[in-house]
Amino acid sequence: MTHPIIPLAGVLGAPVAHSRSPQLHQHWLATLGIAGYYIPMHVEGEDLEAALRLLPKMGFKGVNITVPHKELALDIADHASDQAVRIGAANTLTFGPDGAIHAENTDAYGFEMNLRQNAPGWQPSVGPAVLFGAGGAARAVVVALLDAGVPEIRVANRTRSRADILAQEFGDRLTVVDWNEAGNALRDAATVVNTTSLGMTGQAQWPVPLDALPADAVVTDLVYAPLETPLLSTAKAKGCVCVDGLGMLLHQGVPGFDMWFGARPEVDAATRDAVLR
Ligand code: ATR
Repeated sequence: MTHPIIPLAGVLGAPVAHSRSPQLHQHWLATLGIAGYYIPMHVEGEDLEAALRLLPKMGFKGVNITVPHKELALDIADHASDQAVRIGAANTLTFGPDGAIHAENTDAYGFEMNLRQNAPGWQPSVGPAVLFGAGGAARAVVVALLDAGVPEIRVANRTRSRADILAQEFGDRLTVVDWNEAGNALRDAATVVNTTSLGMTGQAQWPVPLDALPADAVVTDLVYAPLETPLLSTAKAKGCVCVDGLGMLLHQGVPGFDMWFGARPEVDAATRDAVLR
């Protein structure tokens, strides 16, 4: 007698309870009528490799990886996409039939698709981008902006040395701006991106003056709690096209879902509602 195999996927992190990915993928499974499951799993770093070697034997097609394991997951993987290697982290793993682990990073894709969907007039090549932050999330945004054809990325980070490291690594389209001078760098910006945790509920006030922000800039914030951050509300008042960070989370999930469950889900209003619920 043959039994149907129920496809499984999930997210591994420590902590993992905050992850919105289970709501996202369960919504898509229900919408598409796929009899699969997506499960949050709290796994510590020292157990990550053992867990990843066992999961394929338990019916898992792959998993998402969240903080703090994205770099370690790339090290463990047997092969990796070019973008995952350039970003230096993996957020999406797929398991081959033999259990081999393939690492992807879909954050750059998610970032770009969010802008394409919600700022359809965005033209990355028309002017410089200003990037606040130089952490892990900033690396994915740098790769996305470079691949989209942005002529210059001005990186401003509170700890300047981290911005210097990004610029050394990603080449001469990146210029480093002192954190105290970041407001001036906005003057002719076409694209503005916050990748710091500033503006998140409970975090410090937004410190960079926004007087120089041009009204024709496209402004996006990776912070999505609240959906309208202080940066976005100021930019909106100036007339800028503003894109909140929730869409990046939704779009980065699409390639993984497609690879694991064999169907490409929509990112629409119902998807947003499912994740905000
Ligand atoms: P992520 O993977 O989300 O990018 P991270 O690597 O911890 O997380 O980076 C957090 C980013 O937010 C960094 O750019 C950090 O600046 P520092 O490199 O100086 O730490 C930035 N950040 C966090 N809190 C900040 C604050 N109060 N003021 C300015 N920048 C802040």
